[in-house]
Amino acid sequence: MRFLITAGPTHEYLDDVRYLANPSSGKMGFAVARAARQHGHAVDLVTGPTPLRDPPGVATHRVTSALEMRRVSLLLLRRADAVVMTAAVGDYRPARRVRGKLKKTGRALTLRLIENPDILREIGRKKGRRPLVGFALEVQDAEANARKKLVAKRCDLVVLNGPGTFGADHGVFRFLTPAGDLGPARGRTKAAVAREIVRWVETRRQNE
Ligand code: CTP
Repeated sequence: MRFLITAGPTHEYLDDVRYLANPSSGKMGFAVARAARQHGHAVDLVTGPTPLRDPPGVATHRVTSALEMRRVSLLLLRRADAVVMTAAVGDYRPARRVRGKLKKTGRALTLRLIENPDILREIGRKKGRRPLVGFALEVQDAEANARKKLVAKRCDLVVLNGPGTFGADHGVFRFLTPAGDLGPARGRTKAAVAREIVRWVETRRQNE
């Protein structure tokens, strides 16, 4: 099988030296890429900016913004058999990128932001029968919100997690499918949860 995996944050530039971002480390997506490779699969990993090194044997595609991540992911979707989207894509980008450097004026500055495309939602419409795994980062009404994302983005599995997993090597994860709640992941480390996700995708493909 060939996996398409997104990872990391995106950087949305307001001028040539400043950007909007989030603290995603990319660790979850890199762990899924490594696990898929270890299970003998081919992997395309599309990642936003992270200091993590390319996992051995994985085709790693480095991007910066949400628009770039969307373009590269949609291209690679053509050859993918399964998709796992762990990226913390910036929901908004500055309406205008200023060339050079925004100068201080001594007055308040209002930034106009516009919404970025939802890559997972788009892939959900185009995936056909291929297994699609999304992540849901929730702070309140976690399960209800994650379930809404599962349906709206046409995922086959949503992995629910909280903000405490940002940058960490472990966290509390819960697996939700259209058929119901599969309960908490057995593992606590991202490496263990990544293996569970890869196994879930393999089982799903076998049962098709
Ligand atoms: N996602 C994406 N493109 C976006 C936003 C999110 O592909 N522009 C994907 C993420 O990779 C993740 C899932 O959608 O797999 C859910 O992301 P999350 O940040 O939890 O939710 P949002 O859809 O952005 O909704 P909200 O911020 O309102 O909770």
